[in-house]
Amino acid sequence: MTKAGSGADLYLTWKDIVTIASVVVSGVMSYKTYKLLKEKRDFGNLPTPCSGIDELIGNTPMVLIKSLSEATGMNIYAKLELNNPAGSAKDRVALNIIKTAEKEGLLVRGKPGVVFEGTSGSTGISIAMICNALGYKSYISLPDDTSNEKLALLESLGATLNKVKPAAIIDPNQYVNAAKKACGDLNRENEDKPDELRIRGIFADQFENESNWRAHYEATGPEIYKQLNGNIQAFIAGCGTGGTISGVSKYLKEKIGLINLHVVLADPQGSGFYNRINYGVMYDTVEKEGTRRRHQVDTIVEGIGLNRITNNFSKGEHLIDESIRVNDEQAIKMAKFLSVNDGLFIGSSTAINAVAAVILSKNMKPNSNIVIIACDSGSRHLSKFWKSAVAIDSEVSLDEIMKS
Ligand SMILES: Cc1ncc(COP(=O)(O)O)c(C=O)c1O
Repeated sequence: MTKAGSGADLYLTWKDIVTIASVVVSGVMSYKTYKLLKEKRDFGNLPTPCSGIDELIGNTPMVLIKSLSEATGMNIYAKLELNNPAGSAKDRVALNIIKTAEKEGLLVRGKPGVVFEGTSGSTGISIAMICNALGYKSYISLPDDTSNEKLALLESLGATLNKVKPAAIIDPNQYVNAAKKACGDLNRENEDKPDELRIRGIFADQFENESNWRAHYEATGPEIYKQLNGNIQAFIAGCGTGGTISGVSKYLKEKIGLINLHVVLADPQGSGFYNRINYGVMYDTVEKEGTRRRHQVDTIVEGIGLNRITNNFSKGEHLIDESIRVNDEQAIKMAKFLSVNDGLFIGSSTAINAVAAVILSKNMKPNSNIVIIACDSGSRHLSKFWKSAVAIDSEVSLDEIMKS
């Protein structure tokens, strides 16, 4: 073989050929590596910028909970609703309530409007944030013992707050009734005003409003289905208004089949849903005369558990196969367990769902896919639930949790 130069030693040895070939191959390889790195550095899959935080709601990620999956022989996934901009699944509900009101002409974009709600929980925070993004105001009435972090968030968002004494739902000053009344008062004051001076008010009414379960039927359910290619054997959620469990179950059962998906309502102590689903009676022993404490549902867990039937629960009640009861101690220990073993810093209702997943796993075929809702983050619960959870030994075992 002839070398590029001249003279008698112009032949390439096999050694030369191997050297040249390896230089070429490594050149190609490093170009490929460079391209791969470049693609990574270009963050090719990043979504394009959007024009408001409302557009960031939904499309939440899902994560495999490794510790629980390995221990149970299942694949237990958490749907991370805490990734929504205002920090919970309630963003979807608040946005759908407002958009539906706009479609019905009850709110008009660019004109003054106020969204009223009675809530001590995440819905108020979602309403306040979304109202700010869309040019409306929010009015939240809530019990005067609402946790400091929730109050601070609502105040930071500039919501008008009406703090009332905790009371039963039949009391006209109960916080939901107070919000409804304030909304009615505003609309009456404004009904005769010319359009340009008129302030429109809507009562969000999350427990009864159809936009609640529909938000989950139209988006949360389809997202879960897509994220697991429809391969889902069980779905677990708690029930506050019932919007999440009704909307997601309805979508998933329509797609997967009534008997192919097992839907579980994870219920905290003191709530009536456990007996309602398993025995057809809405009752809990805390309702026995003389045993009832200040709050309707006697648990440290926030956002789930109730002792009345709401429209959003009714919509999906027939789709719920079973309710699993979880006590506060189990929830508190599970929260610490997931934080320490998986880096998952979650709120109290998510901890309840995780305990229910472990209990359910005993009756599921190995390798089943179980999805739980991770409604919000531990940071919403620092002053109450996590005050207890932080004190739990980091070495707490799953066995200890289950025996609690
Ligand atoms: C933290 C938390 N988890 C779960 C839920 C229950 O969701 P849903 O109202 O859709 O039943 C709520 C409801 O407020 C909540 O605040």
